[in-house]
Amino acid sequence: MSPAALSLDRIKLQHRSRCPLLPNRFKITANARKEANAAKSSNPSFPSKKGSSTPASIIDRRELLAGTIAGGASLAASPSGPALAEPVGSPTFKRCQPANIANTNTFVMCCPPKPKRDTIAFKPDTGPMRTRRPAHLVDEDYIHKYNTAYAKMRALPSDDPRSFRQQANVHCVYCNYGYHQEGDPKSTLQIHFNWLFLPWHRWYLYYHEKILGSLINDPTFALPFWNWDNQDGGSYIPEMFRREGTPIFDANRNEANYAPARVDLGYASEVDPKSKPNKPDDQIRQDNISIMYNNVAKVNNQEAFFGAPVRKGNNNGGDGSLEKTPHTAVHIFGGSPKNPNGEDLGNFYSAGKDPLFYSHHANVDRMWDVWRSLGNHDFRDADYLNTEFLFFDENQDLVRVKVKDAIDNKTKLKYEYASMPQDKVWIDYRPLPLAKTAFAQPVASLVPGATAMAAEYPLVRSSSQNAEPVKVGAGPLTVTVAQPKGSASDELLVLEEMVIGMQNNTNFNVFINLPEANESTTLSCAEYVGSFYNIPHFMPGMTESSTRTTNASFSIKPNVEILGLKDADKLVVTLVPRGKDKEKVFTFKGARIQYA
Ligand code: C2O
Repeated sequence: MSPAALSLDRIKLQHRSRCPLLPNRFKITANARKEANAAKSSNPSFPSKKGSSTPASIIDRRELLAGTIAGGASLAASPSGPALAEPVGSPTFKRCQPANIANTNTFVMCCPPKPKRDTIAFKPDTGPMRTRRPAHLVDEDYIHKYNTAYAKMRALPSDDPRSFRQQANVHCVYCNYGYHQEGDPKSTLQIHFNWLFLPWHRWYLYYHEKILGSLINDPTFALPFWNWDNQDGGSYIPEMFRREGTPIFDANRNEANYAPARVDLGYASEVDPKSKPNKPDDQIRQDNISIMYNNVAKVNNQEAFFGAPVRKGNNNGGDGSLEKTPHTAVHIFGGSPKNPNGEDLGNFYSAGKDPLFYSHHANVDRMWDVWRSLGNHDFRDADYLNTEFLFFDENQDLVRVKVKDAIDNKTKLKYEYASMPQDKVWIDYRPLPLAKTAFAQPVASLVPGATAMAAEYPLVRSSSQNAEPVKVGAGPLTVTVAQPKGSASDELLVLEEMVIGMQNNTNFNVFINLPEANESTTLSCAEYVGSFYNIPHFMPGMTESSTRTTNASFSIKPNVEILGLKDADKLVVTLVPRGKDKEKVFTFKGARIQYA
């Protein structure tokens, strides 16, 4: 690491917090949160509407910090106690605006057609069970049926909400800020980068699948899932999607990534593909297994997996591990580098134009089921459960749905996934320290179990204690973060208040105890803990330099244990920026270890 990469004022860092009120405020919130949670677990339908007798706020620590820094906004709302939280408002369907897709002031119209009838409420599916199967194992009869359904969808008039064009637009309008939040018109609505990611996409696929099934009069029709986590057959863009001229083909893809190229679940886009570090196939395979383990199987904490809360008036959120990778990596892998914004799969506004999108997302959605089967639990937070979205169904009715109805897919939505014994390969994976892997680099300091020399790297504290943000860009950065004693079902490394350019492909891998890590370092080692990805996206009225602020959490508990670092009072953390925007600076305000 180059010391110049770290623009951190070490002297200022020695100062204590300049916000002496903070500890008290934390106490109020911590107690409030406990009360709110207690009330919720004793009553699952715990109301959280304004004006209810809800005893306290469920504002989390992150919101409090953001509020404090921004002038106490989230606290000032209620001087006698923390503000009451509410779900994110439902989409302003009637006041949809064109989506701004790039910094060139390019707008696309992806607003929905007018509904013909009044909006209806979701009712549990009463049809037969639909079983989603792996795309690489479906037979020719299925492929024929699947193509027929898309041919019919593509043939519908473009103002029919069931048409392929309108279906693709649904992703664009929810992702490129076509809607604001009802009741809070200043707040935009974004279903990525936060806890809405999994439930929103589940609903989107549900209606997409129901429409396809109804077009071929087959109520048992189910989407296939692209089984990219399965390194034996699943991890190539499935062959049926590569048949030119068929309704499920899309010309806007990266053909260089067709078989024999294995999907790289840690893929980074490059300006010049030749400059890409050359990963041999057996390393991609091994890295993929480790990526699945590190970003799905090992993560116990809900927020770390699903993403951070967004509530009315608070849009910051934070991406969950599954969303960051493999989800976003696969988008970038599939999109065409010849197009300005990585279209189709590589950009949100265009991703729904590739039928492969729905198969990719079926596997993302399957990960929710797999994660739950590992003994993990869904959020029970009322603001999450009561968040509402609007979708057109197979009868062209506009349906109001709630997150809570998406959680039990087998009973309420009547679909399930074929069981995949191959999942065990990454669920049971236990990474080894780098020095013990087949990809060990000959670096002298990599003695198994050794602790990297923490004293050599600057200490970054939590955001309220760091005077200046830490800058990252132009190469790997290594810092240390204090590891307090503690234990819980998960241990999280949190990069606080990261500020990243909305138009940048910000992407980095995170390692602990491996300051030598670089772009070629295998991700199959226990030092690798997770990755961060941003897909460039834009909002009307923003400029090229517009940023978003987010926290990034990485689950590190098993890594710390495997590396023998449980008793270390500091962890050495290395961020390795990658991809075509790796030189573009981003910052984070602080870092901390949290037991959760
Ligand atoms: Cu809404 Cu995979 O993106």
